[in-house]
Amino acid sequence: MAFAVSSITLFVLLVLLPLSATAQPYRNVTLGSSITANNANSTWLSPSGEFAFGFQQIIPGGYLLAIWFNKIPERTIVWSANRDNLVQEGSKVELFADGRFELSDPRGQRIPVAAPFRVGVAYGAMLDTGNFVLANTSSVFLWQSFDVPTDTLLPTQTLNQYGELVSSFSRTNFSKGRFLFKLQKDGNLVSYTRNFPEGSANYAYWSTQTVGSGSQVIFNQSGYIFLVLKNGSFLNFLLSSATSTSQFYQRAILEYDGVLRHYVYPKSANSSGGRAMGWSPTHFIPPNICLSMGMSINSSACGFNSFCSLGTDQKPKCECPRDYSFIDPNDSMSDCKPNFVPQSCDEEARETDLYIFEDMPNADWPFSDYASFPQVTEEWCRQVCLDDCFCVLARFFDGTCTKKRYPFSNGRVDVSVEGKALIKIRNSNATADSSGSKKSERSILIITGSVFLGSSVFLNLLLLSSIFLYAFCFRQRKSKGLQPCRVLPGLNIRRFTFKELRETTNGFEEELGRGACSTVYKGTIKNDNTETVVAVKTLHKMATEGEEEFKAEVSSISRTNHKNLVQLLGYCDEDQNRLLVYEFMSNGSLANFLFENSMPNWYKRLQIAFAIARGIRYLHEECKDQIIHCDIKPRNVLLDECFTPKISDFGLAKLLKPDQSRTTTGIRGTKGYVAPEWFRNMPITVKVDVYSFGILLLELICCRRNYEPEVEAESEMILADFAYDCYKEGTMHLLVANDDEALNEKRFDKFVMISIWCIQEDPTLRPTMKRVLQLMEGSVEVPIPPDPASSTTSI
Ligand SMILES: *[C@@H]1O[C@H](CO)[C@@H](O)[C@H](O)[C@H]1NC(C)=O
Ligand SMILES: *[C@@H]1O[C@H](CO)[C@@H](O)[C@H](O)[C@H]1NC(C)=O
Ligand SMILES: *[C@@H]1O[C@H](CO)[C@@H](O)[C@H](O)[C@H]1NC(C)=O
Ligand SMILES: *[C@@H]1O[C@H](CO)[C@@H](O)[C@H](O)[C@H]1NC(C)=O
Ligand SMILES: *[C@@H]1O[C@H](CO)[C@@H](O)[C@H](O)[C@H]1NC(C)=O
Ligand SMILES: *[C@@H]1O[C@H](CO)[C@@H](O)[C@H](O)[C@H]1NC(C)=O
Ligand SMILES: *[C@@H]1O[C@H](CO)[C@@H](O)[C@H](O)[C@H]1NC(C)=O
Ligand SMILES: *[C@@H]1O[C@H](CO)[C@@H](O)[C@H](O)[C@H]1NC(C)=O
Ligand SMILES: *[C@@H]1O[C@H](CO)[C@@H](O)[C@H](O)[C@H]1NC(C)=O
Ligand SMILES: *[C@@H]1O[C@H](CO)[C@@H](O)[C@H](O)[C@H]1NC(C)=O
Repeated sequence: MAFAVSSITLFVLLVLLPLSATAQPYRNVTLGSSITANNANSTWLSPSGEFAFGFQQIIPGGYLLAIWFNKIPERTIVWSANRDNLVQEGSKVELFADGRFELSDPRGQRIPVAAPFRVGVAYGAMLDTGNFVLANTSSVFLWQSFDVPTDTLLPTQTLNQYGELVSSFSRTNFSKGRFLFKLQKDGNLVSYTRNFPEGSANYAYWSTQTVGSGSQVIFNQSGYIFLVLKNGSFLNFLLSSATSTSQFYQRAILEYDGVLRHYVYPKSANSSGGRAMGWSPTHFIPPNICLSMGMSINSSACGFNSFCSLGTDQKPKCECPRDYSFIDPNDSMSDCKPNFVPQSCDEEARETDLYIFEDMPNADWPFSDYASFPQVTEEWCRQVCLDDCFCVLARFFDGTCTKKRYPFSNGRVDVSVEGKALIKIRNSNATADSSGSKKSERSILIITGSVFLGSSVFLNLLLLSSIFLYAFCFRQRKSKGLQPCRVLPGLNIRRFTFKELRETTNGFEEELGRGACSTVYKGTIKNDNTETVVAVKTLHKMATEGEEEFKAEVSSISRTNHKNLVQLLGYCDEDQNRLLVYEFMSNGSLANFLFENSMPNWYKRLQIAFAIARGIRYLHEECKDQIIHCDIKPRNVLLDECFTPKISDFGLAKLLKPDQSRTTTGIRGTKGYVAPEWFRNMPITVKVDVYSFGILLLELICCRRNYEPEVEAESEMILADFAYDCYKEGTMHLLVANDDEALNEKRFDKFVMISIWCIQEDPTLRPTMKRVLQLMEGSVEVPIPPDPASSTTSI
């Protein structure tokens, strides 16, 4: 009879488990037993054979020491010992004669397992509950896997205070993932996003709100899951009902998508009661994880720039918007990246013709807003987002337009989400040649052509070519990326004789400008048939500098090549004469442009600020030898024929050799732009340029000089002080009182804050130029700046 029963068992096992372990009669795991990770599939089974303890091969050559449901074809792991540290083939788990229970790799190296050493272990056993235990001779459990759950709870298992489940990374990767379900010390039962990969709890997205009253989570024999409160009552947080554990396999698992689900699996075909075979979820929390997330930009059911929606199976699905794709194609919870070139902020125009919007109804990304406009039309909303390179998507709802920037997080698509998202994507049909700007250029030509038809051919040609040149210069900026406005001259620095330069400048005839240490003359270099207009700068005080240093400076500066730096074309160092030859900038200095002519618009000013910041960043961070300019001010920023700003006047610049982080020299620079450390016998670092840039930025955004003696109130005389006062008192509009463009610009406040950071008296508090650009671009939030004169925090 006994033989018959065991034969049947064997038969059942063989039939139902074609893929799993060979059946072994149940016995206790005696001291000295071991299992090796290999293809032999040896396991320790529970008496019923429903659970097995052993190695599961997860990836080729990578094994997980685990407990799993052993009578079903689907691999269903309920516990594991080394989820973050798969072991190689040939690794061994062993219950030693002295009771140690250890995992070791083929070389005998120990790998930490959940079971610590306990005195008195007499045997181990895989129980029918799915609990693996180490017991002493009186069958008292000294250690059990139920006490150290991974991501799953089984019937009869409890979760005590401090107990937690950590989700897997993905369906097939069992490493610790992105979510945490935890019964806290304070009694609250909470689901958290998990700082990945460090592991600390991040943002709660679901909780029972039982602070002070929760004491234990129980998954009882009847298949009922509840939180026991301290006063003895139960909280059915999963809203579950009892399900027979004799007819169904059951488990509650915090899945890789952040949802805690109660699954059941019919043990035999006739107990399925109409249910489909396989694991099916009965209850889960939170009901819609896509909408439950939303505490912070960092807490999301999906990655950045993606969106979450609930599928027909009620499971969250992460997808990328159109023309975006996952950074890791194998991980749908990774971030999405655009497949197109994002809109540039670099030049004046935004290639607006090249971008279109993908409409997504019932979609929103609530944490990436930076500007909002009520009472507008959808068309207006599209246009304003198109015109703003920071705007990567807009939301239009109920007449309100909200601009959003990268990264957009917490995307959700759901019928309950109101409004419509407009995602900016690149029009794949548009090529550089078929852009609208070209079209309008063509129409100018046609109109001009017809207007002047009848005049002399020569005049027509002249007009046409000048218009074309004009259009070329400006169009180029409108469709940036096709071709720079000017090609930078090559790096062949020419050495001139003094005589040559005297001829070039026609005997130093036409003076362009004069500074404390130099005078600049206009010159013309004739080469074969071409004439190049240049600026020749004569340095007055160079005799005091050593010959070598002058050469080093010239050669280093000549190696710079950035579109926001004036290009050095040549030099002369004959006898006492030190001259530098630069490309000629036809539109004069920024000082003239900003303070003397009519006020350039806010947008142009911003463009200039970005360009100058990039030029300085280049000097500080991208050159072989770091260069400190030492004299950043509007007079030293020149504008070429396309009004591209270029930093000039490197005569005062200091080179820092790679092993040098500071320099000491006499005061250089110009009053008002000079950082305080020059006067304080402090080392001079690149931060002096940051200071000067801060002043310049303030001048740019406020369109006035830092020092303006003719204002009415004395408090407004020095812009840097005035700006901080206004910032502190929340009256920043006073800074741009009659500039509506700036007033209506959300970014105005931000730029004032960035300036204040730059002009901190303590140089260590000033951001680097790289940081400044990140702040300006909006990729980093601008923290509250301290009072420049007394500050203790930094960014
Ligand atoms: C396992 O060991 C315990 C204690 O020694 C004993 O009571 C139990 O009968 C053993 N079970 C089996 C199946 O050998
Ligand atoms: C081990 O299991 C795999 C599938 O899980 C099976 O292909 C293989 O034949 C088994 N090996 C042994 C020795 O039973
Ligand atoms: C087994 O462990 C329990 C709890 O530690 C202890 O009370 C009991 O005496 C132990 N039994 C034996 C035989 O050591
Ligand atoms: C699982 O995911 C983690 C985190 O990305 C990764 O480090 C690990 O290599 C992955 N493991 C496998 C087996 O793919
Ligand atoms: C499980 O809990 C439910 C609700 O408290 C209770 O009705 C049921 O009797 C419990 N079952 C067992 C086996 O304790
Ligand atoms: C136990 O406490 C919970 C909340 O703390 C309360 O809702 C419930 O009514 C209490 N039950 C009893 C039996 O006091
Ligand atoms: C399944 O069906 C068999 C025969 O049809 C029956 O003997 C058995 O009791 C049924 N099992 C359950 C759990 O209903
Ligand atoms: C988001 O996470 C980043 C990096 O972990 C952190 O620097 C930043 O402060 C977080 N932002 C918020 C709003 O929590
Ligand atoms: C994605 O998975 C496939 C198959 O598992 C693998 O060949 C490929 O290298 C993976 N790609 C990445 C980017 O990890
Ligand atoms: C691109 O052109 C194709 C075919 O002409 C058209 O179906 C498609 O809608 C166009 N796409 C865009 C974004 O304009």
